[in-house]
Amino acid sequence: MKPPTIHPIEPRIVLRASEVWKSYDDGSITVLKGVDFAAREGQTVALCGPSGCGKSTLLHLLGGLDEPDRGSVAVNSTELSRHRSRLNLLRYDIGFVFQLHNLIPDLTLQENCLIPTVAAGINRGAALARLKHLTDRTGLSHRLHHRIQKLSGGERQRTALCRALMNSPRILLADEPTGSLDEETSSTVFQLLLDIAATEGVTLVMATHDRALAARCDRLVDMHDGRIREPQPD
Ligand SMILES: Nc1ncnc2c1ncn2[C@@H]1O[C@H](COP(=O)(O)OP(=O)(O)OP(=O)(O)O)[C@@H](O)[C@H]1O
Ligand SMILES: [Mg+2]
Repeated sequence: MKPPTIHPIEPRIVLRASEVWKSYDDGSITVLKGVDFAAREGQTVALCGPSGCGKSTLLHLLGGLDEPDRGSVAVNSTELSRHRSRLNLLRYDIGFVFQLHNLIPDLTLQENCLIPTVAAGINRGAALARLKHLTDRTGLSHRLHHRIQKLSGGERQRTALCRALMNSPRILLADEPTGSLDEETSSTVFQLLLDIAATEGVTLVMATHDRALAARCDRLVDMHDGRIREPQPD
């Protein structure tokens, strides 16, 4: 008798963009022209493509920071336009590492990282314990009380990573998280990001110019002419 065929159960889709269009300046620049994209739970996905092709725009839409002109974005199968509280989604479910890290220069590392926990109503003791865990992992525990303006580029990027992970989001969107760093620091921070995503089971979608780093992710998708292309396995 033929043995039964076993179909592995694929992890569920946690993030989906369907036929997403986005233009700026009253429609004079159309950046996204019907983007279809889905990420499964726990996957790491690199979003590549030339400068200006729309990577940041797509990440902002996936994270609910902006709205598409047409099409839909769903997080955990709930369409963002129908989400009862998009703010809660941003506070609890999604972490975002911005291209220019958006840290407040006059505040310390600890103060910057505590901001999202205050907004989410997490008690200070739990927030400090989480911060200790993350700064231990990222090698920043000796910098907790330093102001951001006194930190190096790599330390700032690692701080932005800690801040994005403070509320233990299940999805992390990272926009060129190592873009401003030299090759060696960039490789270290990138690996740290992948390691933390793996141990915390986070789904990671990351925009990057660096194809060598992108190759370390589970999937690489290319943006071209406002759409997404994914190299198909042979
Ligand atoms: N708020 C805005 N108003 C007008 N045009 C915008 C706005 N944001 C982005 N654009 C334009 O949309 C296009 C895509 O920008 P986006 O930042 O998404 O590209 P990107 O792929 O992230 O580029 P990079 O690799 O340089 O970060 C660019 O031509 C940009 O000038
Ligand atoms: Mg960008």
